Amino acid sequence: DWTSASVIDEQVALIRAQVGSAQVICGLSGGVDSAVAAALVQKAVGDQLTCVFVDHGLLRSGEAEQVERDFVAATGVRLVVANERDRFLDALADVTDPETKRKIIGREFIRAFEAEARKLVHDAGLGEEVKFLVQGTLYPDVVESGGGEGAANIKSHHNVGGLPDDLKFDLVEPLRALFKDEVRAVGLELGLPEEIVWRQPFPGPGLGIRIIGAVNQERIDILQAADAIAREELTKAGLDRDIWQCPVVLLADVRSVGVQGDGRTYGHPIVLRPVSSEDAMTADWSRVPYEVLAHISNRITNEVPEVNRVVLDVTSKPPGTIEWE
Ligand code: XMP
Repeated sequence: DWTSASVIDEQVALIRAQVGSAQVICGLSGGVDSAVAAALVQKAVGDQLTCVFVDHGLLRSGEAEQVERDFVAATGVRLVVANERDRFLDALADVTDPETKRKIIGREFIRAFEAEARKLVHDAGLGEEVKFLVQGTLYPDVVESGGGEGAANIKSHHNVGGLPDDLKFDLVEPLRALFKDEVRAVGLELGLPEEIVWRQPFPGPGLGIRIIGAVNQERIDILQAADAIAREELTKAGLDRDIWQCPVVLLADVRSVGVQGDGRTYGHPIVLRPVSSEDAMTADWSRVPYEVLAHISNRITNEVPEVNRVVLDVTSKPPGTIEWE
């Protein structure tokens, strides 16, 4: 019967059999799936694994550090960090259309990952022996891509795929048979930090699709600050496991009049989008207690000077999607 320890033993044996003495690379996204997949492969083949983290600058506050410091401390994995923040800011400058943003972020992500992989394969001496790419594919992903219908057609999601010929790898997918809760149990058993294991779903394009309007560093800073407060208060209230996820959205092109102290303000609204869901295909807005909402609102408007209004999204999915873009 199912225990995370038995899954780990089984997968470690399978990975060793598949990989042999070849080199393996894995892209880390900051999310739980790629982290657990990488930790399993690390346990199986140790320093035959090299992880690559493309920092696109669109993660939430503290998440890049979680990958660069905490994940490495917990696993001892060899990690290459590519700071690609400027690449993404440049590519996104003045872009407001949601699908265009998604396509640009997906494209630049593949380019950045490709460049790092090519350096590893051709320049850094891992050479010919790099035969495998780890992917954190879960069972529901396998089912969904088989179906080829549904949410994937509404928004373009991104994954590492479509690599060029000199970077053709065989895939190692140690989570293919698992559901999300099983992946979390395996991650905990492998000693990964709770913040990584219990991270709520977060879109690949990151904060780029939670800034409604063009993306720039100032707006990212505002949203990171507001998002960190919302997360902190929801965690403090013990709501992390009741809420599927809570996108925090900056309406960067909207301003409204407010008053603070003696002065008039003309700031931006922040939208809270807490949802409950089983699988993200449908969702309902979460009935977060008013007290908690009040705390979040007070703190954001006090601590983030550019924000003078906090609003709550009370739309189910459908008709709303979970993310605003
Ligand atoms: P929507 O907005 O379509 O989101 O209701 C459904 C779920 O998918 C997440 N999401 C993404 N995840 N890459 C991802 O890995 C993406 O491009 C992406 N877009 C949305 C979203 O956070 C929600 O959990």
